Amino acid sequence: MKDNVDLRSKYRPAKFRHLVQGLHDPTIQAITTALARRIRFQAMLLRGPYGDGKTTTARLLGQRASCTCQELHAFEPCGGCGGCRSVMIHPCDSEYWGYSEFDVQGISPRDITARIMSEISYAKSGARIMSQRVVTLDEFHRLPGKDQEKFVKVIEDKGREHNTLFILCVAPDATICPAISQRCAQRRLRLPSIKECIRHLRVIARAEGRVLTHEDADLLASTAGAVPRAYLGLLQDAILFSSNDRIVTRESVITACDMLCSNG
Ligand SMILES: Nc1ncnc2c1ncn2[C@@H]1O[C@H](COP(=O)(O)OP(=O)(O)OP(=O)(O)O)[C@@H](O)[C@H]1O
Ligand SMILES: [Mg+2]
Ligand SMILES: [Zn+2]
Repeated sequence: MKDNVDLRSKYRPAKFRHLVQGLHDPTIQAITTALARRIRFQAMLLRGPYGDGKTTTARLLGQRASCTCQELHAFEPCGGCGGCRSVMIHPCDSEYWGYSEFDVQGISPRDITARIMSEISYAKSGARIMSQRVVTLDEFHRLPGKDQEKFVKVIEDKGREHNTLFILCVAPDATICPAISQRCAQRRLRLPSIKECIRHLRVIARAEGRVLTHEDADLLASTAGAVPRAYLGLLQDAILFSSNDRIVTRESVITACDMLCSNG
């Protein structure tokens, strides 16, 4: 690796088109088409397996809301302005730019609601191009049903009043109380295909100045169950174990995969 940054953070997509599932994916297409047509939702329930890009997708919507680029693309954030960079680098500290992110675990719904209220009234439209703000409630499924219901009012009333999109990231089969789920646009992010993972892994290896063969990328992707976060972790280990600094060697790939399997 050229530096010590974790590959997962370094290559977290800064544009929708960098999501491994691709712009043709029905869920990503539904999101980008709504942005391009300026269709506004008050709330979105984003379901998907662990590590497949839910938080990343929510942050992309946050970047888009925060973007100050004068020549804004139809649906992409620019990725380079102060607003976009703030969401990418300090996602939990970007309320000024119109993006707030909360991990709902360990904070009472009352405290979260109070923080949401102070943050959405603090956010100024400033140089932002879009008027809508984004609030992500990450791991929302970890709240018990009675606590989930406490967000109905804030999503419905305050969301409308302050022109805010709430994004609730949840596990694929999590139980979400009907009062919440009925108020949300439902989106499901699938795991990428092995072919998509292989392409992704080889692009990242190349960006790191390493050659990764198709077969070894296939082994990394399959061992990680096609979960982007997991196969990027394996690639990082394989690079670390590799004796050659231009090639990700077969031996290092096997060692990384064996370690994952022996750790369960
Ligand atoms: N769809 C994707 N395309 C490209 N990279 C991805 C994708 N999904 C995940 N990654 C990589 O994995 C990392 C973690 O992704 P992210 O936090 O978005 O997953 P998540 O679905 O929110 O996980 P969890 O279910 O555990 O909350 C990202 O920083 C990125 O490097
Ligand atoms: Mg997440
Ligand atoms: Zn921008």
